Amino acid sequence: MHSIAVIPGDGTGPEVVVEGLKVLAAAAQKYGFTYETEHFDWGGDRYLSTGEILPEDAADTLRKFDAIYLGAIGHPDVAPGILEKGILLRLRFELDQYINLRPVKLYPGVDCPLKDKGPEDVDFVVVRENTEDFYVGSGGVMKKGTPDEVAIQTGLTTRTGVERCLRYAFELCRRRDRTNTLTLVHKTNVLTYGGDLWWRAFNEIGQADYPDIKRDYAHVDAATMWFVKNPEWFDTIVTSNLFGDIITDLGAMIQGGMGIAAGGNINPGGVSMFEPIGGSAPKYTGKGVINPLAGICALGMMLDTLGEQSAADGIEKAVMQVTGTKLKSLGAARMGFSTSEVGDLVVEALAQQA
Ligand code: IPM
Ligand code: MN
Repeated sequence: MHSIAVIPGDGTGPEVVVEGLKVLAAAAQKYGFTYETEHFDWGGDRYLSTGEILPEDAADTLRKFDAIYLGAIGHPDVAPGILEKGILLRLRFELDQYINLRPVKLYPGVDCPLKDKGPEDVDFVVVRENTEDFYVGSGGVMKKGTPDEVAIQTGLTTRTGVERCLRYAFELCRRRDRTNTLTLVHKTNVLTYGGDLWWRAFNEIGQADYPDIKRDYAHVDAATMWFVKNPEWFDTIVTSNLFGDIITDLGAMIQGGMGIAAGGNINPGGVSMFEPIGGSAPKYTGKGVINPLAGICALGMMLDTLGEQSAADGIEKAVMQVTGTKLKSLGAARMGFSTSEVGDLVVEALAQQA
């Protein structure tokens, strides 16, 4: 029995989560596993009505589950940063989900802006460090609001944090068994302390424990260029938190858009949290036009982590069938189907599999 905490969150998050849970029910029936869910109303609306961002014991509550399924966090009536830091980043940090895992994969039938690239060219995964770097909120401000204002914001890099992330990435690259190439993305030519720590650890660990994995390196600016020009060069990428945030929005675009981009916040020894990587899309809220595939792919990643590999593979194949044969576009309101119809199509495709 898998116990799953569900946080639908803000904006279009709840509509997408409904479709994911629909697919979960179908997968459970087909693959013969059982689960129970408990919903948490954490998000912007609850904050606006109660003044509380998250209960004090939120992380302890969530630790009792096998996995967490998240819609989206972010509300147009709440100042930027409050919910992001107070819910999303706080949970990632307190649950020590030190990996943010984001596959970039072009599914059949999906329009790629890179006209001549197909599904065989776009299939890599970004392992983003998820608990350090500029996200720790270290720094300060002087003379705020005056012409002499000074602000300092520091990125934190620790050997332990870097090492556990690198090991996860080397292992994942080995398991994928695609080109067996792990690319470190950083900016070692400018970030001569943090970047240098990553570079040394990358080579030391690779040499000592992963001699079968080829090591490659790209500066983050060059990496963005190659995402567009030669995405087929990448298999597994490992990078720091802020760079990972930036390049995976680009990754989402080259796999067809936010409508299909999923991610996992992973604590390999604890409880992990799975979410579409896009935001809460307030302008589409409640219209039934948002694409639930990103949320459904996140559900697939969750089942993979829960040890339900055949269910995860089945869901991915069903998604491919839907992108390949049904959807006109991945964009919200341009799919040719409503949010709920797309969920139904995935369930149907899953049911038809041998
Ligand atoms: C993401 C988001 C978050 C991040 C924001 C909402 C704090 O952009 O999950 O990529 O920067 O990590
Ligand atoms: Mn982001």
